Amino acid sequence: MDKEVKKVVWQGSTQLAPVPAVLIGCGGSCGYKNNLITVAWAGIINSDKPMMSISIRRERYSYNIIKETKEFSCNLPTAAMAAKVDYCGVVSGRKVDKFKETGLTALAGNSIKSPIVEECPLSLECQVFDVIPLGSHDLFLAEITAIQVSEDFISENNKLDLDKENLLAYCHGSYYNLGEKIGSFGFSVKKSHK
Ligand SMILES: Cc1cc2nc3c(=O)[nH]c(=O)nc-3n(C[C@H](O)[C@H](O)[C@H](O)COP(=O)(O)O)c2cc1C
Repeated sequence: MDKEVKKVVWQGSTQLAPVPAVLIGCGGSCGYKNNLITVAWAGIINSDKPMMSISIRRERYSYNIIKETKEFSCNLPTAAMAAKVDYCGVVSGRKVDKFKETGLTALAGNSIKSPIVEECPLSLECQVFDVIPLGSHDLFLAEITAIQVSEDFISENNKLDLDKENLLAYCHGSYYNLGEKIGSFGFSVKKSHK
């Protein structure tokens, strides 16, 4: 590198990016109606058994729903769904029916009573096994007990093919589509790359 890069030190903050922006489906049992909440602080945390986490503020309407029903669906939206995802992240289910207002379709879960979103190519069905209070947010740890995939996104050799539609990503307050594929796992060490 020709020019020395000067670094400036900021205090710690939540600047990790890009992150997903997923539609979490909840409700459908314990007397709760179906609801959707947009979550960016979501991640995979274990592979065997498959597990994921979501971080949710206690003041969200969805917080008590997920805490009591102990389940949720994690639906991966396409970039074309960005406005609906944003809407579900700025309006509360206390006041509106977000499925009705967005026109998104609730389908039955396979292993959970929470709804999944028909328009999302991939829905992860999750059962909560622990909740860890962290401060502003509580961390929900959940096992992924089933996945529902839209048939259109399964290739001829029975593999998941999400390249047909751009998935949605979130980066420092803005929405992005994933764009062009630039490599696959391990491509840097393959002979053809050198
Ligand atoms: C892109 C985006 C990401 C968000 N991520 C989170 C999150 O990770 N955790 C959280 O508690 N709220 C998050 N929110 C805010 C909630 O989605 C928002 O407060 C929502 O209206 C809560 O809905 P509810 O009251 O129906 O539960 C996010 C909002 C947006 C737009």
